[in-house]
Amino acid sequence: MNEKILVLDFGGQYNQLIARRVREQKVYAEIKPYNKITCADIQNAGYKGIIFTGGPNSVYDEKSPHFDPEILNLGIPILGICYGAQLLAFMADGKVTSADDKSEYGNTILYVEDCALFEDVPHISNCFMSHTDYVSELPQGFTVKATTKNCPAAAFADESKGLYGVQFHPEVTHTDYGKNIIRNFLFNVCGCVGDWKMEDFIERTAERYREELKGKKVLLALSGGVDSSVAAALLYKAIGENLVCVFVDHGLLRKDEGNFVESTFKGKFGMNLVRVNAEDRFLSKLAGITEPEQKRKIIGEEFIRVFEDEAKNLGKIDVLAQGTIYPDIIESGKGDSAVIKSHHNVGGLPDVISFESIAEPLSDLFKDEVREVGTKLGLPDALVYRQPFPGPGLAVRIIGEITKEKLQLLKEADAIFREEIDNCPEKIETNQYFAVLTDTYSVGVKGDARAYGYVAALRAVTTDDFMTAQWTRIPYDVLERASNRITGEIREITRVVYDITSKPPATVEWE
Ligand code: XMP
Repeated sequence: MNEKILVLDFGGQYNQLIARRVREQKVYAEIKPYNKITCADIQNAGYKGIIFTGGPNSVYDEKSPHFDPEILNLGIPILGICYGAQLLAFMADGKVTSADDKSEYGNTILYVEDCALFEDVPHISNCFMSHTDYVSELPQGFTVKATTKNCPAAAFADESKGLYGVQFHPEVTHTDYGKNIIRNFLFNVCGCVGDWKMEDFIERTAERYREELKGKKVLLALSGGVDSSVAAALLYKAIGENLVCVFVDHGLLRKDEGNFVESTFKGKFGMNLVRVNAEDRFLSKLAGITEPEQKRKIIGEEFIRVFEDEAKNLGKIDVLAQGTIYPDIIESGKGDSAVIKSHHNVGGLPDVISFESIAEPLSDLFKDEVREVGTKLGLPDALVYRQPFPGPGLAVRIIGEITKEKLQLLKEADAIFREEIDNCPEKIETNQYFAVLTDTYSVGVKGDARAYGYVAALRAVTTDDFMTAQWTRIPYDVLERASNRITGEIREITRVVYDITSKPPATVEWE
């Protein structure tokens, strides 16, 4: 059994980030809502340490989350962060005061004193603060370990009991030495050794689902994207044949992609995979449609219809599995920003199929952790490190009406461009690259004859988060090779252009 840390959740926004920071130090972290666990549970579970998270409230609010003060006497070290630090002080009979005029938000200079928590942390550094209340009187036995200009007890501790509070957020990257502080808590204070590995997460999760899903039929919509692929591989490890993956191939995937997904999951893993070849069904619904949003809506709806039809054939489904990852959960909580494009993913499925519950085995993980799990489970790099691909697929890269012919041309042009980038001896820093088939025709000369064909556009972007993006400075010789090959190998394309628009004002996809 690995050592583990409890992240006691009081409703802060960075709770998963805290858990991730702990996992980065090779210590397993479990997040539990404060009202779903008791002191006795904590003692029995054998945690090496506890982290109280931040939270939106004031400790004097009637409705604010509290916990049994007995937790302070369990002999388990505690690190309280932000609200968690105030709660710690409050529970130990300290005093918390609201400082409306002195609230701190953002980067703040932190002055620390020597102690186990601040080993290898310089006396002066930057930290990230976000608070109005602060600890104004320390409980008995506690001393101040750090200050900021407006916060007299930016960190405090009763070192003899292993109780520490920090008003700032060590889990965010804006706190210069946040990682060291978390590491110090884990290793110096809790006595962890850091022997947890991603394999342990895989084993633990598989074991949990083997138990929870015993005898149940589980359905997963596999898109071939990273998240649903890794979720499928992980659940397959847990429940084998009882997992049914339905892969709706709408025909709008990249060249050979459908076969690759099928051969990986059915061939290599031997999974129970149903591939639905629905290209004709999608193309007939899309016939004559040129408006981008309409295309997206049609594909989203048709996807659900096809999936629904297939699910009916499978009989009773007990559990629907999804590849939801942690950032999806944060993003879906963000609210009412303007809709630029209606993104289609499989998130809409629960409305149309009846099932008892949902299984989301990756919901605590960040993307790079999901990739690591995928690799450890034996998924090929081409899947695990796949560039993002929109749910509506090539439909949003074919301008104007979508026809079988245009789809075929785009698949070829796109495959050539990707191949040239992938084969370039010097690594090109780009995060997404693809071809677009425009609806414009252009005159050219092929052989000695006049040619009149499509204009293809090449697009490549460099970005951290896809919210904003720069067009990638692809070397000219790579562009030239791609252009020569596309116009040479595809008779119907007479001209190739390169898209030099960043986002904003453009978006990554053309539609
Ligand atoms: P845009 O075009 O909005 O794209 O700048 C940003 C990123 O999102 C991808 N994208 C989608 N992903 N379903 C998805 O799952 C969609 O409908 C969709 N539309 C765009 C796009 O490829 C880029 O990575």
